[in-house]
Amino acid sequence: MNVKDLFIDYFVSKGHKQIPSAPIVPENDPSVLFNTAGMQPLVPYLMGEPHPYGKRLCDYQKCVRLTDLEEVGDTTHHTFFEMLGNWSLGDYFKKESIEYSFEFLTKVLNIPLEKLAVTVYKGDDKIPRDEVSANAWKSLGIKEEKIAYLGKEDNFWIPGDSGPCGGDTEIFYFRGDNVPEKFDPEDDRWVEIWNNVFMEFYQDENGNVTELPRKNVDTGMGVERITAVLEGVNDNYQSSIWQDVINKIEAIANLPYKGNEKSMRIIADHLRTAVFIAADPAGIKPSNTDQGYILRRLIRRAIRHAKKLNIDINSNWDTEIALIIIAKYENYYHEIKDNKEVILEVLQKEKTKFNHTLEKGLKEFSKVIARQNNEQIPAEIAFRLYDTYGFPIEMTVELAQEHNIMVDVAGFKQKFKEHQEKSRTAAAGKFKGGLSGNSEIETKYHTATHLLNAALKEVVGKDVHQKGSNITPERMRFDFSCDHKLTEEEKKATENLVNKWIEEGLDVTHEEMTKDNALASGAECMFIDKYPDIVTVYSIGNVSKELCGGPHVKNTKELGHFRIKKEEASSAGVRRIKAVLE
Ligand code: SER
Repeated sequence: MNVKDLFIDYFVSKGHKQIPSAPIVPENDPSVLFNTAGMQPLVPYLMGEPHPYGKRLCDYQKCVRLTDLEEVGDTTHHTFFEMLGNWSLGDYFKKESIEYSFEFLTKVLNIPLEKLAVTVYKGDDKIPRDEVSANAWKSLGIKEEKIAYLGKEDNFWIPGDSGPCGGDTEIFYFRGDNVPEKFDPEDDRWVEIWNNVFMEFYQDENGNVTELPRKNVDTGMGVERITAVLEGVNDNYQSSIWQDVINKIEAIANLPYKGNEKSMRIIADHLRTAVFIAADPAGIKPSNTDQGYILRRLIRRAIRHAKKLNIDINSNWDTEIALIIIAKYENYYHEIKDNKEVILEVLQKEKTKFNHTLEKGLKEFSKVIARQNNEQIPAEIAFRLYDTYGFPIEMTVELAQEHNIMVDVAGFKQKFKEHQEKSRTAAAGKFKGGLSGNSEIETKYHTATHLLNAALKEVVGKDVHQKGSNITPERMRFDFSCDHKLTEEEKKATENLVNKWIEEGLDVTHEEMTKDNALASGAECMFIDKYPDIVTVYSIGNVSKELCGGPHVKNTKELGHFRIKKEEASSAGVRRIKAVLE
């Protein structure tokens, strides 16, 4: 059994309900491109909304962190990883949480007690030292010397700049044999394996801290790291998670891992992340903005490193590797199984596109290097490599670094801005992470989304279905299946109907029911698989019924006036409406 199954079995045996992994592209959260932690999809529940599954939850969650993208190539970094987590929503707190973690590590994974050490929050001028956690650890046999008390920089967890937060206790494992008497968190033979956050507060964007209505536990343990630790390897890519992928790359390149680690790790990591992004229900395709740009960058960087290993990049090397990755995950994430063809097609098409220009671009780059005489590569050239040869700027920087040359990235960005309608640098702001505030206006837009969905069905036809949505405090965007451009009459009628429902002051209510009953009752639902067996169904008067996690306004009259600003094509068979509330 692998650690994912052991983890879920253990926490289910302790009264936790397993919840499905949320999609990797968060819905209705424009502040982040990807889901970056197990707790992220649970934010509304950590902030007080009741979870349909109850107060004890566990899961394994797909995560993508882009902050580490450039680091990939070393022994420990990944862009995609899976996070194991268990949560208490106002149920148990520090003591029980620590006891569960301890029992799982020592009894299920059989880690010897002496190989474990912990950090505990040392407190600050407002919050006292966390004696409850320290005592819980001591009563389980962790010696005082194996406890380090650290401050806010280390032992306080908050997702990005704002969100539910609190002090935490982190569990470390000693890699090696002669375990020192005293735990030194600076000694890198001690690796952090698990983080138990005791969420008691909510911090808003301005740094104001308020107490949460209930105290929660949020824990997170990275599958890649714990697997490497248990298998006694210092290089994550040598663990069982990666072994067959690396073996395959070795066979295709006809080169050993040793000496070629960096490129092999990059290929393995980036293709795995690309597989998961391409499989996501959001239907991301390689492009020059947002998630699509990341997908493009990952695939192109993998291709370049394949070329470095002298792999024939026109061969099926990427499909062969992707198939191993798909086989490994398809029983855990059915979207991988369901979208197998889509994944392979995305890789194939992007490769064909890039292979056209890669060779020429690399020649051009060599000429530039020869001319440059160790001087910085000017913005015009970096932009030409991007525009004509499809080199993501990050790839040009990486290539230049291999020759110890700098690139005028700021100049490139300026040029890019001048040349593109929609600047990618704006999107880059989203990479930082952080959660959308579920602000009042975003909540209103969310309810308006349901009304628009219902109105389109009435005006345009019953077979209109939601294909996606995106909300910012300024506007809402709604994608739906429809085979034609809406006529002026259809647009007007849709807008009027939404406004009529707003004026009628319809109550928004929700109830929990089984997924089967919800579907039988005719509730709308975009991605059926995303939902657990017990679901929340939001109803607006008797005009709309949808499976949804909320939050919503209480009554439609809170919405004000609804106006469609634009109706346009999104992709084949999908139309897009942009609308505002005024
Ligand atoms: N949110 C915490 C983390 O990501 C614990 O799950 O480490």
